[in-house]
Amino acid sequence: MKATAKAHTNIALIKYWGKRNEILKLPMNNSLSLTLDALYTKTTVEFQSDLENDTFYLNGNVKQGTSLQRVKDFLHLIRRASGKNEYALVQSENKVPTAAGFASSASGFAALAAAATKAVGMDLNDKDLSRLTRQGSGSACRSIYGGFVEWQQGKELDGSDSFAVQLERENYWDIRVAAVVLFEEEKTVSSSEGMKRTVDTSVFYQGWVDSIPADLNAMKAGIQEKDFEKVGTIAEANCLRMHGTTLGSNPPFTYWLHGTLAVMETVQKMRREGIPVYFTIDAGPNVKVLYLPEHEEIVKEALHAIPGVTNLVLSRLGQGITYS
Ligand code: PMV
Repeated sequence: MKATAKAHTNIALIKYWGKRNEILKLPMNNSLSLTLDALYTKTTVEFQSDLENDTFYLNGNVKQGTSLQRVKDFLHLIRRASGKNEYALVQSENKVPTAAGFASSASGFAALAAAATKAVGMDLNDKDLSRLTRQGSGSACRSIYGGFVEWQQGKELDGSDSFAVQLERENYWDIRVAAVVLFEEEKTVSSSEGMKRTVDTSVFYQGWVDSIPADLNAMKAGIQEKDFEKVGTIAEANCLRMHGTTLGSNPPFTYWLHGTLAVMETVQKMRREGIPVYFTIDAGPNVKVLYLPEHEEIVKEALHAIPGVTNLVLSRLGQGITYS
């Protein structure tokens, strides 16, 4: 009753922002992401008859509080689905540099779901695994697959049609992503809290939802045409619109700090100089920059030169779940 799985994190080009069901983690809109090879979580789950509770180690440290509770809640779903009632020892190694301020929940819950279901002997296909993973962390349902991935929001109340599918494999197109590390502190508004506040109060929220179908169609066309300018332009605009909803909330908030703006300005300046680079930002101050391999050196140099940039993590597209 033991298994190990590795999952990579992902970065959304069309963001998931807002839930229609908080418990089942059903989104208000479809989203589309790239899986990244440099950032991953490897997790071993062992169900044991003599354990009196679930235990969770992250990078060798035993975890308590909210992170343990989220793991326990998720293992409970797996116990319910499998009919096996043993507690588990969970050991995770996060290769998402904590300093990168990257949400590790995507790779974390994808690796946990894959290892735990395998350990209890549930033989799930990717679609079923994605649907289950979604209930741990929404964005994690996209990390089941490599390359270009779409999470289809679905319509059913029970979430049965809300899961991710792969659009293109990781070797389809060599797009690169630089994760620009600016701030290491914990963010003050979690993604769940931020989404809820925007859905409940933002005067801009409906505009966000209404804008998704056009963005999604154009993004898919851009991917099919391998048109980097189109993909980057839509990703950047979609990110700005998502962050715009936070300013229209009550009370208003933003994830941006001064360094965030400095990176955004550098990216836009490089574009004016003819280098095709684009930014996107998740629920935090750090920025991810999209570029093509031939511009890696110039992008690296420009981003390193920004005051406040402490680290850069350069990534290619990564694969989906693997077991060892
Ligand atoms: O799944 P969560 O709760 O980590 O939310 C992720 C939300 C964003 O990162 C902002 C957007 C996305 O689609 O990943």
